[in-house]
Formats: sequence, structure tokens, C-alpha cells
Amino acid sequence: MKFNIAIDGPSAAGKSTIADILAERLGYNHLDTGAMYRAVAYKALRDGTDLEDEEAIVEMIGGMDLVMNADGTVILEGEDVSEAIRTEEISMGASTVSKLQGCREALVAMQQKICEEGGYILDGRDIGTVVLKDAPVKIYMVASPEARAERRLKQNLEKGIESDYETILEDIIKRDYQDTHREHSPLRKADDAVEIDTSYMTIEEVVDAVLEIIREKTGE
Ligand code: DC
Repeated sequence: MKFNIAIDGPSAAGKSTIADILAERLGYNHLDTGAMYRAVAYKALRDGTDLEDEEAIVEMIGGMDLVMNADGTVILEGEDVSEAIRTEEISMGASTVSKLQGCREALVAMQQKICEEGGYILDGRDIGTVVLKDAPVKIYMVASPEARAERRLKQNLEKGIESDYETILEDIIKRDYQDTHREHSPLRKADDAVEIDTSYMTIEEVVDAVLEIIREKTGE
């Protein structure tokens, strides 16, 4: 039987990259829950909906046509927004809408529905504490803000996105604060999660460490 795996941690800690590789190796699906908060922020900004207006945001989500494809693409109202939701503006916007309890409830319900049959790796902020409280494997992935800013800068360079280290670092620190200090489901390590500090690890080393944890926890 396929189970579900929870990966939580701050932004740019490598959660998505690792989840993608693990999904491929294990024959699982990867659900990037941050992309769902990003899609909400994208639509709100596009439609001129106030990101802090809980009622309006919840109503908007109710009528939102969002498809999270197994290949990682995000389709909003028929439009592929996979790349468009990756800007710094949308990152901050996602962090802002994610503070709203109504927004969280709606997206958590969608996430639980998607992975109810098992075989999913979910990455986010509240997977081990809220979305998949009973997951047999929970990983809490961290890295220093500086290591994360370096990685984001490198990714941006590779994608041809102009950015500078200081601004990225500032955004990471600001988003960490917002994500860990919000009232509803703040980012925190679940009691039964295993913490991995990836600051000085290669991607392959992190993948191996997670595979070892999966073996220990499930015998697979
Ligand atoms: O993982 P990410 O950087 O794409 O997430 C964008 C924002 O969405 C992040 O700042 C906090 C929020 N988020 C959340 O509150 N809960 C999740 N499960 C995933 C993301």
C-alpha cells in the first residue's frame, strides 16, 4: 500500500526539488501545496481582490478552477501559470493569503482530497501538523537563510531571472517571519517529524537521508 509523505520547512530549503526526485524514484506523485497558495495570490492580484480580505478570498477560491497536474504544472482557469506564480511579488502575496484561516481551510480540504488514496509526497508548511497529521513519514527540512538565498539566486540566474542576493535574503527573512508568526497553522516542526539541515548537503545527500528515514519508518 502506498502511504503519504509530509515535507515541511521554510521557503527555498529545497523541499520541492527533493520531493520531485523522491516522487520519481518511488513512483509517487508530488503535490506542491505552496503552488496552490501562489495560484490564489496570482488570481487575487490579477482580479484586483484584496489579499487581506478573508471573505472575498474565500469566495474567490470557491469559484476558482485550479488543476494541480501530476507533472507539476499548475492550471488556473485553463491557463498554465506554473512559471507566472514564481515571481517574488507572488511569493509575498502567497505568504499574505496563507495567513487567512478561511483560505487555509479551503486549500487543506483540496489537498487532503487529492492525496486520499495515498502515494503522494506533499511539501509545504503545515503538512505534518495539519494536512497529513497521520503520515508515517514526516520530514522537516531547514537551511540557513544565507544558504537558501544563494540557492535561489543560482536558480534565478539559470532561469534568466534578474535578481540580487541582498533582496532575496531580505525576502526570505521576511517570509520566514510571516510564516512562523501567523496565527493559523504557523510553520513548525511536527513532534514526530525528522529534521534535516540541508545547508551543507548536496541534493543527492538529502535524497539519500530521506530514503533512509523512509526505510526506518516504514521498512520499505
Ligand atoms: O512553498 P512556497 O514558497 O511556494 O509557498 C508560498 C507561501 O505559501 C509560503 O510563504 C507560505 C504559504 N504556504 C503555507 O502557508 N502552507 C503550505 N502548506 C504551503 C505554503
